[in-house]
Amino acid sequence: MTDEDRERWDRRYAAQGLGDGEPSAALVELAPWLPRRGRALDLAGGRGENARWLDAQGLAVTLTDLSEVALDLARRLFERSGASIERRRVDLEREPLPPGPWELVLCCSYLQRELVPAVAAALAPGGRFVWIHPTTTNLQRHPRPGSRFLLEPGEAERLVRAAGLRPCWSQEAWVGRGDDARFLARVIAERPPEPSRGRRRSRRSIEGTGPTCDGA
Ligand SMILES: C[S@@+](CC[C@H](N)C(=O)[O-])C[C@H]1O[C@@H](n2cnc3c(N)ncnc32)[C@H](O)[C@@H]1O
Repeated sequence: MTDEDRERWDRRYAAQGLGDGEPSAALVELAPWLPRRGRALDLAGGRGENARWLDAQGLAVTLTDLSEVALDLARRLFERSGASIERRRVDLEREPLPPGPWELVLCCSYLQRELVPAVAAALAPGGRFVWIHPTTTNLQRHPRPGSRFLLEPGEAERLVRAAGLRPCWSQEAWVGRGDDARFLARVIAERPPEPSRGRRRSRRSIEGTGPTCDGA
């Protein structure tokens, strides 16, 4: 990420201001699959709308982003709602992920393919990675983002499998209504729980995790 790119994001957020504070509907729909306890990491989480929603779900959230302006807007959003969320300025192209283990890692509308193995390594056993990103099919209705910022069809699921994660649920579809609809890959993938040593094997290592992950 060049200084120019960072300044571009800063300018964009300065122009947009706080916004409505609402989380992504594409994320909220996935609520039943998310853990309700533990630590959550929001990668490139911008102004923190999704982080605030995760906090309200019961998770201890760390928000990362490159843009100081976005992180400052997030601070104001969190103060307004009394949410206690750690904010960290991280250039994900140059710096490592904040240390895990994480029960949940969210990556929404940020594409950096090399990050997937690092996410897999940072997850707690049984922890889940939620990846929401448009694919090239989105170009059928929207000229932006351009193809270099988009996933190929089927790619999200391939990448999480290659990183050793087990997809629990995966979908590629138009999400949203009318002009707002985006063609999104949404994948929920789990780091396989460590085998239990006791006689009774628990299939859920993380309390509060929704439907069990049997592999999609
Ligand atoms: C399209 S926005 C998505 C924001 C948020 N995840 C959401 O869904 O609303 C992309 C975000 O990536 C951040 N970003 C871009 N490059 C980054 C990098 N190298 N490291 C960390 N964040 C970065 C931008 O500042 C911006 O907030």
